[in-house]
Amino acid sequence: MTIDADALARELTERIEAAGDLKALDALRVAALGKKGRITAEMKQLGALDAEARKAAGQALNAVKQQVTEAIERRRAVLEDAALEAQLAAESVDVSLPVRPERQGKLHPISQTMDEIIAIFGQMGFAVAEGPDIEDDYKNFTALNIPPEHPARQMHDTFYLSDGAGGADMATVLRTHTSPVQVRTMETVTPPIRVIAPGRTYRSDSDMTHTPMFHQVEGLVIDKTTHFGHLKGCLQDFCSAYFEVEDVPLRFRPSYFPFTEPSAEVDIGCSREGGELRIGAGDDWLEILGCGMVHPRVLAMSGVDPDEYQGFAFGMGIERIAMLKYGIPDLRTFFDADVRWLDHYGFAPIEVPTLIRGLTP
Ligand code: PHE
Repeated sequence: MTIDADALARELTERIEAAGDLKALDALRVAALGKKGRITAEMKQLGALDAEARKAAGQALNAVKQQVTEAIERRRAVLEDAALEAQLAAESVDVSLPVRPERQGKLHPISQTMDEIIAIFGQMGFAVAEGPDIEDDYKNFTALNIPPEHPARQMHDTFYLSDGAGGADMATVLRTHTSPVQVRTMETVTPPIRVIAPGRTYRSDSDMTHTPMFHQVEGLVIDKTTHFGHLKGCLQDFCSAYFEVEDVPLRFRPSYFPFTEPSAEVDIGCSREGGELRIGAGDDWLEILGCGMVHPRVLAMSGVDPDEYQGFAFGMGIERIAMLKYGIPDLRTFFDADVRWLDHYGFAPIEVPTLIRGLTP
């Protein structure tokens, strides 16, 4: 046999290096090293040679085999890298591309309404305060002048979480209103105070007009001279800005809250003519919030001197004012997590409400 080992190695190696993909490379591997491959066929012929020639040719063939195997591995590594690169390039996502309209998410009306509330009160100089959904009994009730056994506790259908091993005040509840954020703020901030606190609230109540979880926004203003007239003006300005109606009619009805004195509930003027609700017209009224001058005992319990400071607080239902402004008829649909509902009543997520460009997109 006269094999030119070098020529064979060169030929096979050249083909391997030219292999365009992993499949072609594997075909070359089989053609060279497989049972019926070129090198295998040459090996089979070694038996016909005499001992001396067989030894030399065998060594030469083994060297070819070695070279070819190494060439295949090198090429495989290159092709695998290229395949990975190609896959990464094909699957890459350009996050700077605009969203396809049919895929664009919508902002829930509660989020939109909160953003609008924050924009309006922000313009008036209010900061946003927050408190936890799981609140202790003391801040939800006692510090708001609702001691244990007080009948006002029955007005709140409270979800109780734990008894509180450290005494009744340490029991935890799902906060029944955002008013505990008043306590948290007064305990930590030296007046003047001007905050709103939007957030989730919970009551064990579920029917056409109540859901066990709902949202409120609390307002608190404390300084040395703030009086009921300021409360009225503040709410009047808020309602005009929010409902985008000049001089919205508001009615302050005397009411009772343990943590404010005097207290009032506020109704907004509306008409229900023809079954359609319109804000700021007609002679019907709709309750939207509770408010009053912060009770001196509430100030004192949170470390604010009632002889030096005074102020007002209010608490407003966010679902209620969202339903009124956006004509959403059923409260419970807010929490059905129905994307068709969200698609209809939701808002474009990019537009942040401001008083200058307009609250709603
Ligand atoms: N916390 C009261 C409620 O949930 C509302 C309120 C807040 C009333 C602040 C007066 C002052 O009904």
